[in-house]
Amino acid sequence: MTKIFVTRDIPDEGLKMLRARTDIELKVYGEDKKIPDGILKRSVKGADIILSLLTEKIDSSVMDAAGKQLKMIANYAVGFDNIDLAAAKERGIVVTNTPGPELSEAVAEHAVALIFTLTHRIVETDTFTRAKKYKGWGPKMFLGTDVHGKTLGIIGGGAIGTALARKMHNGFGVKIVYNDIKRNEALEKEVDATYLEKNDLLKKADFVSIHVPLLPSTKHLIGEAELKIMKNTAYLINTSRGPIVDEKALVVALTRGDIAGAGLDVYECEPLIDCDPTDTYELRKCANAVLTPHTASATIEARQAMSRVAAENILAFLDGKTPPNAVKVS
Ligand code: DGY
Repeated sequence: MTKIFVTRDIPDEGLKMLRARTDIELKVYGEDKKIPDGILKRSVKGADIILSLLTEKIDSSVMDAAGKQLKMIANYAVGFDNIDLAAAKERGIVVTNTPGPELSEAVAEHAVALIFTLTHRIVETDTFTRAKKYKGWGPKMFLGTDVHGKTLGIIGGGAIGTALARKMHNGFGVKIVYNDIKRNEALEKEVDATYLEKNDLLKKADFVSIHVPLLPSTKHLIGEAELKIMKNTAYLINTSRGPIVDEKALVVALTRGDIAGAGLDVYECEPLIDCDPTDTYELRKCANAVLTPHTASATIEARQAMSRVAAENILAFLDGKTPPNAVKVS
């Protein structure tokens, strides 16, 4: 019998697949909140597989609390920065994630939504209208900017970056430039994208959207120097992981008008919106920022697909195959 511990209730598609197997004993933490660390360590004891969420830090202490029989950590997220990969490798534990077209489309749609929310000033004008301040049409009232014909700089030309490029290029006539550690020729061909060095991209783009994983090499990939290179009419979009952007530097850039605005779904000290408990960064006070609570992939379709993909990874592993989404540890 394979013991699987799921750290929080997730959409049911994958759970049904696992429950259908008679050789699996499935336990799910039933509360709809992040599992407290102490309960996590007690609950994983004896588990062969942990199905974890991005909210849980799965480090060596959790792996050791589970015991030597722990063979797999199946993360319910495309990101895997919550897992200590080196510790997993040392213990021979397989780690998997949940990429897929549904997740890519949902996150790309959210990036599009943030771009339009900023350029068409949707939050400000909604607040204004609800406050009964609308007293009549005006030719200079709440002027925003066009998206059509502008340049989108994508940092990270993988599945999500490509989905966003497709939508923006085909749907809105946006020119695509991108940067990554390696070139993506399929992306270049499909949307006529141009590969640029990071600083050249920052100089050129009207929108910069980040789609790289959080790794030691991507922490603060966008900081004070990069924000200074961006046009003061440009917008920064982050739907990947908060620490990729130096949030303190971003607040300074937003406040000084070094960039026009930012659309953020992720935060450096998530779930805090300000790393400094005294709120010194004051990100929430920046009217030129649109903030969403890490909901870019929060569509029914994407979250069910992530559940299915997590289960597919587990079932492949149990059947002695390499899971389709094994995370490579170098
Ligand atoms: C992920 O999958 O990594 C997203 O951040 C949440 O779906």
